[in-house]
Amino acid sequence: MQVLGDRPEYQQKLRKNPEGIPTFIEEALRMHAPTKVDFRLVRKTTELGGVSLPAGTIVMLCLGAANRDPRKFEDPHEFRPERKNVREHVAFGRGIHTCAGAPLARVEGQITVRRLLDRMSEIRIDESFHGPADQRNYVYDPTFLLRGLSELHIEFDRAS
Ligand code: HEM
Repeated sequence: MQVLGDRPEYQQKLRKNPEGIPTFIEEALRMHAPTKVDFRLVRKTTELGGVSLPAGTIVMLCLGAANRDPRKFEDPHEFRPERKNVREHVAFGRGIHTCAGAPLARVEGQITVRRLLDRMSEIRIDESFHGPADQRNYVYDPTFLLRGLSELHIEFDRAS
């Protein structure tokens, strides 16, 4: 909803072409990874990125940062649902413990965006709470684990 409000051009685009909703969701997940960090236990002594990791070390993985790695995503701070590797983000983790709920979360997101776009038009971020488009002020819950808005104030018209 935040991305739709901040990038209003997608509202009409996705209403007209709902088949674009899945990649819109993927790109929103890449740029706004809801899980900021994840952890892994090093089982065998190894080296990663020039850093020695003895067995037993707990490694904190910054998923949001990895999702904006320019070696993986071209112009990573640009919102581009059309990028070819749009699904290759790690917002759901990776490997044997990858999020078990990812398929459900994806479908829920897609249905939610579609239904909201059907019912609402002209979705706008409420500037009296969040400031003008070039100076937004969003407050996130104070936790290093998750990235979630404490509140989001929007305005919208009823779809006719
Ligand atoms: C946008 C929504 C969601 C996000 C961003 C998310 C993210 C994550 C992440 C980052 C992990 C850790 C993966 C790893 O360590 O590699 C995880 C694990 C997990 N998630 Fe989600 N999740 C979401 C929704 C859900 C939902 C809806 C469910 C259940 C219905 C769910 C169930 C689980 C479970 C069971 C695990 C543990 C898997 C394991 O340890 O083997 N998640 N999730």
